[in-house]
Amino acid sequence: MSDEQPELESYPPSPEFAANANATAALYDEAEADRLAFWAAQANRLHWATPFTEVLDWSGAPFAKWFGDGKLNVAYNCVDRHVEAGNGDRVALHWEGEPVGDARSITYAELKDEVCRAANALTDLGVGKGDRVAIYMPMIPEAVVAMLACARVGALHSVVFAGYSAAALRARIEDAEAKMVITSDGQYRRGAAAPLKPGVDEALSGMGDCPVRNVLVVRRTGIDTPMTEGRDLWWDEVMNTVSNEHTPEAFESEHPLFLLYTSGTTGKPKGVVHTSGGYLTQSAYTHFNVFDLKPETDVYWCTADIGWVTGHTYIVYGPLANGATQVLYEGTPASPDEHRHFQVIDKYKVTIYYTAPTVIRTFMRWGRELVREHDLSSLRLLGSVGEPINPEAWRWYRHVMGKDQTPVVDTWWQTETGAIMISPLPGVTDCKPGSAMRPLPGISAKIVDDDGNELQPAPEFGGEATGYLVLDKPWPSMLRGVWGDPERFKETYWSRFAEQGWYFAGDGARYGSDGEVWVLGRIDDVMNVSGHRISTAEVESALVGHAGVAEAAVVGATDAHTGQAICAFVILKEHAAAQSTEDMVHELRAEVAREISPIAKPREIHVVPELPKTRSGKIMRRLLRDVAEGRELGDTSTLLDPKVFEAIRAAK
Ligand code: PRX
Repeated sequence: MSDEQPELESYPPSPEFAANANATAALYDEAEADRLAFWAAQANRLHWATPFTEVLDWSGAPFAKWFGDGKLNVAYNCVDRHVEAGNGDRVALHWEGEPVGDARSITYAELKDEVCRAANALTDLGVGKGDRVAIYMPMIPEAVVAMLACARVGALHSVVFAGYSAAALRARIEDAEAKMVITSDGQYRRGAAAPLKPGVDEALSGMGDCPVRNVLVVRRTGIDTPMTEGRDLWWDEVMNTVSNEHTPEAFESEHPLFLLYTSGTTGKPKGVVHTSGGYLTQSAYTHFNVFDLKPETDVYWCTADIGWVTGHTYIVYGPLANGATQVLYEGTPASPDEHRHFQVIDKYKVTIYYTAPTVIRTFMRWGRELVREHDLSSLRLLGSVGEPINPEAWRWYRHVMGKDQTPVVDTWWQTETGAIMISPLPGVTDCKPGSAMRPLPGISAKIVDDDGNELQPAPEFGGEATGYLVLDKPWPSMLRGVWGDPERFKETYWSRFAEQGWYFAGDGARYGSDGEVWVLGRIDDVMNVSGHRISTAEVESALVGHAGVAEAAVVGATDAHTGQAICAFVILKEHAAAQSTEDMVHELRAEVAREISPIAKPREIHVVPELPKTRSGKIMRRLLRDVAEGRELGDTSTLLDPKVFEAIRAAK
């Protein structure tokens, strides 16, 4: 077995796993035989108040309608349905707070009460069908309740990661014209209580015409929190005044469920729109089959934050639609020390664990001895998401955490796809470390060249042919648009292969020797830092927002730990050039944290006298990436002034 040739390795499921798996090879055949009938069958695992008769209407492409004449209530499907089926006593959430000992288990019956109360509270406060609600919260059960309550009354939630700055929150509230914000007084971060609500105050105070009528505040840390009379309300006080009875209304399948802002190639994040029936269908289907969920016995844990799409689909909607029992953990992996994740796995006897390659690489640095101090024998399936997983990390994951037994599913998808698209089926697929393998049953993807011709599976491993990853058929959980900007939706995703009518994902990929897909990462100006998606333009615009910066160029450079790292090159204005470079770099990193989030702080900022540009004035990021990664420069023939690099290298 060679380290350099993961294509030659193959990890089949054990015969026992295969024999008991939810998904067998027959699923591919079923989908192949009649794709729409297949999706109809998946959709019918849900409860429809009005059954659908039409599966897909693609006549308005690229705007799809799935199960268009059906009606359902998403929250009813995620909560009430399980209580009515007699599973009210099943734990829905084992919540584990960051401070050790701060834990709470919530059954489906209790979750139903909470969601009903919150739905009544929203209704009383004038929030209803089609309204937008911003949710800016840590990983606490109330965040899940808030999302489900919005779904229940037909309001769209827009969850904003609680690590985002006030400025980023403001931009998202403004764009969505949110009527309400739900937040908490503070959050625990690495052992300390930090305020959160003041970020909301700051976001709202900077708004000219503020759409927000109320701010609901959950008490999490008890820290002193200023409240604005007439606008701000304590969550617990409101929840105490309302009934736990609430009759859910059924909404059209295409009624929007949520907005989720994500970075694209411009400086302005876009609000990806997801709708109800199709999204819930594919979320539940993938969660059931890719994770082989046995709702009666499994304890599932997805370590993502609800601020990202993984938290939406694989903490809230997929698992709850399937009646799963899951762990919801508030903190970071190293709080209070490196043992925490392994202790949590042991404490709840977690059977299915879904995390990001960056977390796995962190564990690798801590060393296997630490992991082996813990009993992880409950684990029976491991998953990975967010960026390409390097074969070494994949093997370590399976070997050290999975005891060479568990299937490892590398799942490829995006905020826009809503749910997993390319992934092994754990009871069927012989996995190769680092490959997401094949499109799931019901999903169609291709790797094509510039002209849209499908690439041939590489005849030999390490084959050169790399191309664009496209999705050539609509899928139920596909995004339905960019909030308030249909043109941007078409331009961003559907223009590259407009003639063929394909969705271009922004990723490069190649086929392996058995026709499996190897996703290589973004080929646009989007960076992937520890699985967080950040656009170069967004960081550049934060940098030039600083009074001392004349120009900025940002690139993502390969980083062994975070996948990619942000490297910035800035030209200072004359008056700022007098300042010490060290002070300036410090200020600029703080500026990026203030404008976007600490997660977007560049690893390196180089003050340079010039930037490499083409004759038409376009910054040549490709060459800057060569510099950042210490490589020989690629083709410089279109560069206006080839000497610019001597100056950049001298400054670096
Ligand atoms: O580049 C791909 C990478 O993450 C991008 C999507 O980011 P986001 O919308 O934030 O969603 C992340 C969680 C679904 C993709 O365009 N990506 C995600 N999963 C994988 C991946 N790249 C390779 N392999 C994966 N399994």
